[in-house]
Amino acid sequence: MPASGRINAKARNDSVTGQPEATAERRELLRPEDLPQLLGLGVQRLEVEIGCGNGHFLAEYSRMHPSSFLIGVEVKKKRCLKAQGKIQRQQLSNARVIHGSAEAVLRYLSDGSVDCFHLYFPDPWPKTRHRRRRFLRKENMEVLQRKLKNGGLLFFATDFFDYYLHTKILLLIQGGIRLSRQAPSQSVFRSVFAQRFAEKGKQIRTLTAEKMQDSSE
Ligand SMILES: C[S@@+](CC[C@H](N)C(=O)[O-])C[C@H]1O[C@@H](n2cnc3c(N)ncnc32)[C@H](O)[C@@H]1O
Repeated sequence: MPASGRINAKARNDSVTGQPEATAERRELLRPEDLPQLLGLGVQRLEVEIGCGNGHFLAEYSRMHPSSFLIGVEVKKKRCLKAQGKIQRQQLSNARVIHGSAEAVLRYLSDGSVDCFHLYFPDPWPKTRHRRRRFLRKENMEVLQRKLKNGGLLFFATDFFDYYLHTKILLLIQGGIRLSRQAPSQSVFRSVFAQRFAEKGKQIRTLTAEKMQDSSE
């Protein structure tokens, strides 16, 4: 699998316009269905960043953790291309960007296969009636817990106090996972959104959770 992305790109419809996309452009980005082939190459330590944006965290973290294989998932194509550009320019062989939804990517990951999930500054959906659109909701929390290896970690950061509280409660009620004191990597604070919030003087709160040993094993 080349660092740039797909091997067998098929022409398909753009999700927004419904029009067929140029095959050459599509070839540049991996899709969720490419994961089995990508992971089939044999990955020892798998870490997944959900909503990787322009890839600042993804690139810096993968450079600092050469023994991990990083997958950044992002729904916005322009952001995917920026993140992929960073990976290519820095010749990072241990990171890939997937263009698609995290929900779709999670369906392709085996249970107990992920060492770490990174979720930094997910869209907060501040209006009460929109809260169900937040990525961290009960159904997704259950899936993340299942996909983690025993001892695997989930890192979360937000500037939005209500999302922090909501996530803390979800983590406390989710079975098989417990809050941990491990701090996330400092690379979190270099992402576009982290810098934006820091400039505005907003407090950034983080949470870490660890998957507990499955007592049935
Ligand atoms: C507020 S931005 C934060 C981006 C980056 N983590 C940062 O700190 O700069 C949230 C990102 O999550 C992406 N996103 C939202 N829902 C997603 C989903 N279900 N799957 C993958 N990416 C998603 C958005 O497109 C956006 O780029």
